[in-house]
Amino acid sequence: MSKVKTQTLSILTEFEVYASEKDLPKADAELLMQSKKSVKDAYAPYSKFHVGAAVLLDNGKIITGNNQENAAYPSGLCAERVALFYAASQFPKAKVVAIAISVKSKKSIIAEPLAPCGSCRQAIAEYETNSKKPIRIIMSGEKGKIYIAKSIESMLPLMFNKKYL
Ligand code: THU
Repeated sequence: MSKVKTQTLSILTEFEVYASEKDLPKADAELLMQSKKSVKDAYAPYSKFHVGAAVLLDNGKIITGNNQENAAYPSGLCAERVALFYAASQFPKAKVVAIAISVKSKKSIIAEPLAPCGSCRQAIAEYETNSKKPIRIIMSGEKGKIYIAKSIESMLPLMFNKKYL
């Protein structure tokens, strides 16, 4: 057996947990409501998993988006990136303050908060790195608790970003 002494790096991720929408701070509740509205317009005929996202910018604008699927499956895009990329393309100087995510599945009731996929975390991280301001991530299911992460860095530790390039 090797006697090499190793260290352990532990990373703690904390989420604020709210029992329901009614308990949320007003700005978070408003953003979540906008993301829920956007779920209705998702184009998700293949997965039947409808997602909505709402992005709050520091100029006060709220930009919404939803998942857009495609018969060639990988050509589709998640709600979070549809909303973020549209927001950045329309308001390139604005900083992203927060993003809210909502879901409605035609297959089952989603009873836990929907967390953004890895690719969306990476996309959100790009804007957080650029603005040097934490982006608040508000995650909800169709019912049950709501989780809020205070930054994307907390949800994507050891992230790859431009400092490596
Ligand atoms: N999806 C999102 O839009 N956001 C997520 O956070 C998770 C997954 C979409 C992609 C695809 O259209 C469907 O949900 C099923 O994966």
